[in-house]
Amino acid sequence: MNDLSALPDDFLWGAATAAYQIEGAVDADGRAPSIWDTFSHTPGKVAGGDTGDTACDHYRRWPEDVALMKRLGLDAYRFSIAWPRVVPLADDKVNTAGLDFYDRLVDALLAAGITPFPTLYHWDLPQAQQDRGGWPVRETAERFAEYTAAVAARLGDRVTDWATLNEPLCSAWIGHLDGAMAPGLTDLTAAVRASYHLHLAHGLAVQVLRENVAGARIGIVNNLSPVTAATDSEADRAAAVRADGHINRWWLDPVLGRGYPEDMVRAYGVDLPVRDGDLDLIGAPLDWIGLNYYFRQIVADDPTGPAPHFRQLPGPGAERTAMPWEVHAPGLEELLLRLTREYGARRIYVTENGSAYRDTVGPDGSVHDPERTAYLEQHLAACARATAQGAPLAGYFAWSLLDNFEWAYGYDKRFGLVHVDYATQRRTVKTSGRRYADLITAHRGR
Ligand code: FCB
Repeated sequence: MNDLSALPDDFLWGAATAAYQIEGAVDADGRAPSIWDTFSHTPGKVAGGDTGDTACDHYRRWPEDVALMKRLGLDAYRFSIAWPRVVPLADDKVNTAGLDFYDRLVDALLAAGITPFPTLYHWDLPQAQQDRGGWPVRETAERFAEYTAAVAARLGDRVTDWATLNEPLCSAWIGHLDGAMAPGLTDLTAAVRASYHLHLAHGLAVQVLRENVAGARIGIVNNLSPVTAATDSEADRAAAVRADGHINRWWLDPVLGRGYPEDMVRAYGVDLPVRDGDLDLIGAPLDWIGLNYYFRQIVADDPTGPAPHFRQLPGPGAERTAMPWEVHAPGLEELLLRLTREYGARRIYVTENGSAYRDTVGPDGSVHDPERTAYLEQHLAACARATAQGAPLAGYFAWSLLDNFEWAYGYDKRFGLVHVDYATQRRTVKTSGRRYADLITAHRGR
C-alpha cells in the first residue's frame, strides 16, 4: 500500500463528470443542441457513430447517482453545467427549466453532505453561439458572462466553489487546430483567437462570480503535461520549449497574471485581439488552480508540420491504458511541484485524473479492474509525495464517477469508478471504486 499520510486532514476526496458525457436528455426541458450534438451526429467524427443522446441518462437518474457518491464517501462532486440548457438559443433568453435541473442536483448534493464543484464550461458551446462565430469571436465571451450571471443568480446562494472553464486547450487546439473535437476546425488563426476569447470568457466569468457570489472560491481547470525532448539535439530541445509553451505556458501564464508567452505569440504569428484592460481581467487573482493530469509528452522537432512544429512520440513506459496513454504517475508529482515553485500556486486541486481499461462484468455481476485500482493508488501516492514537498494540494477528483461518452472515442473507453451497462443503465461499483471508498474511510479515520 502506498503512503498517503502526507495528504492534509481536510483533503477533499471527489469525483468528476461533465454534462454532455453523462446527462443524455438532449432535448428535454428546452435544451437546444450544442456543438457536440452537431459533431457527434456528423458521420465519421465519433468512433462507432456514438452520440451523447442518452449517455448515462443522468438527467433522469441523478438521485441514484448522488446516492452512489454518498456510498463511495465522496466529499465533493465536480460536474459541469450545460450552457445549452441554460441559454439554449440565439435569443439569449434564460431557460429556467434548464437551471431547475442543477438547482435540484445542488440541493441533493448538499443534503448528502457532498460539496458541489460546478464547472461552467466543459466544451458544450450552444450551437446557436457557434453559428454566430463561436470562440473565434469576442461576443461569445460576452455571452458566456451573461450565462454565468444567470447561473450565479440561481445557485450562488448555495455554491461556493466554481470552475470557469475545463481544459480550454482542448476547446482551442483540438477543436480549432487539430479538428478532432467540436467544432472540428483546422485553422491556426481561428484556434489562437479561440484561445484568447476562452481566456476572456474566463476573466469575465471570474468578475461576474466575484460580484454576485459572496465568498466565492474560483479556479480554472487546465490539462497539463510535463514535456521532454525525444533526443538531446538542439532542434528537439527547442521543440520541447515550444511544446511546453503550446501545452502548458499558453494556458497558465495569462490566467496567472503573466500575460501571453512572447515566444509563443511569435511562433503562432497570429495577432491577439487584445483590448485595453483585457489582460488584467484575464489575469485576475484566482483562489485555486485545477490540474487535469493524464500523460506526459515526449516531443521531437517537426519543421514541416503545423505550427508550432513539434510532434509527439509515444512515451517509452511499458504500461498503457486502453486510450492507449502511457501510465506515468511521476508526471503528476512533477506538475504539482511546478505549479507550486514556478507559478506560486497557493491552492491546487487535481480536478481530473483517471484511466480507461477494457472492463467487463464478471459472471457474479462484479467488475474487477486491477489496473485502474493500481493507477489510482500510484497517482494518489504521487499527490502525497508532492504534498510532502510543499505542494498546496487540497483535493483530488477521480475521472470519472461513471463510465461515459468519451468524446471522439465514444462509449468504448470506460473511465468510471462505477461501471455503466448502457443497455440497461445499470450501475455497478468497480473494484477501483470500492478501493477509493476504502482509502477515503482510512484517511478520515486516521
Ligand atoms: C479530459 C476531459 C474529460 C475526459 C477525460 C478522459 O480531457 O476533460 O472530459 O474526457 O479527458
